[in-house]
Amino acid sequence: MKNILIIGSVGQIGSELTMELRKRYGNDHVVAGFRKTQPSEELANSGPLERVDATDVERLNEVVKKYNIDTIYNLAALLSAVAEEKPQAAWNVGVNGVFNVLEVAREHNCAVFFPSSIGAFGPTTPLDNTPQDTIQRPNTMYGVTKVTGELLSDYYHKRFGVDTRGLRYPGIISNVTLPGGGTTDYAVEIFYEAIRNKKYTCPLPAGTFLDMMYMPDALDAAIDLMEADPSKLKHRNAFNVTAMSFDPEIISAEIKKHIPGFVMDYDPDPVKKAIADTWPNKMDDSCAREEWGWNPKYELEEMTKDMLEKISIKLGIEY
Ligand code: SER
Repeated sequence: MKNILIIGSVGQIGSELTMELRKRYGNDHVVAGFRKTQPSEELANSGPLERVDATDVERLNEVVKKYNIDTIYNLAALLSAVAEEKPQAAWNVGVNGVFNVLEVAREHNCAVFFPSSIGAFGPTTPLDNTPQDTIQRPNTMYGVTKVTGELLSDYYHKRFGVDTRGLRYPGIISNVTLPGGGTTDYAVEIFYEAIRNKKYTCPLPAGTFLDMMYMPDALDAAIDLMEADPSKLKHRNAFNVTAMSFDPEIISAEIKKHIPGFVMDYDPDPVKKAIADTWPNKMDDSCAREEWGWNPKYELEEMTKDMLEKISIKLGIEY
């Protein structure tokens, strides 16, 4: 990775991945691609910035040529709940956009990172210890786009030799940029509400177990996978990766250890509940561990402590 383009650099993962890549590879070598949302000052002032829309293949070509890009992190996507509201837009970004990126990568010999998701599984998938290779028949538009992206990425590797690699991310917990419209967003919102109001109304019912990961591990996973020795990779798109699995009761109890007055009640969102019910309770990520050394650093306790500290500073509210 010498010259890197991030598509979706203002999103939840993109905003932090861009800064981490700039730290590791040099500011001038990491181009922050954004579409509509104005990038933060930190992003805008620390390195090159370009308007890039994955659905606009000509513009994509221009930027890749201009900066002699050899690696593309394509993070553009609509998250699961929003994708149910706007399925056509979700398909356009999540499939046509992915296709464009792969085509540009084929032409310019770029490696491509594809973020798949726990959403690539569905109601007929074994939901406990979900294997790396298993049934994938999602019934959400988000899931349909993620499975398609996995298959297209594998196809471009096999057929054209494009160096495509991907992860099936769980819910990502972070404190810089809020996620927008995902089923797992509650695991971020709960921290802000705990600090602001000592109270949170959860949109998923008790007993809904989902895989989760703290952002520092999510960043390491993406970069480590792209740096992994290709001869060791038996899989490509996309690796199961997880760091913890909990339900709302468990995370609420963990927050209570730091904020004893914290209370949580429930008002399940039917769309999010229906989506979460079809996603794994806990994935088996042993292939990622074996093939490229995946080993997350944060479990629930450390993540909770760090989230509360960081968000408290960010909001200027002590807890
Ligand atoms: N965080 C995503 C969502 O909830 C899952 O990949 O949509």
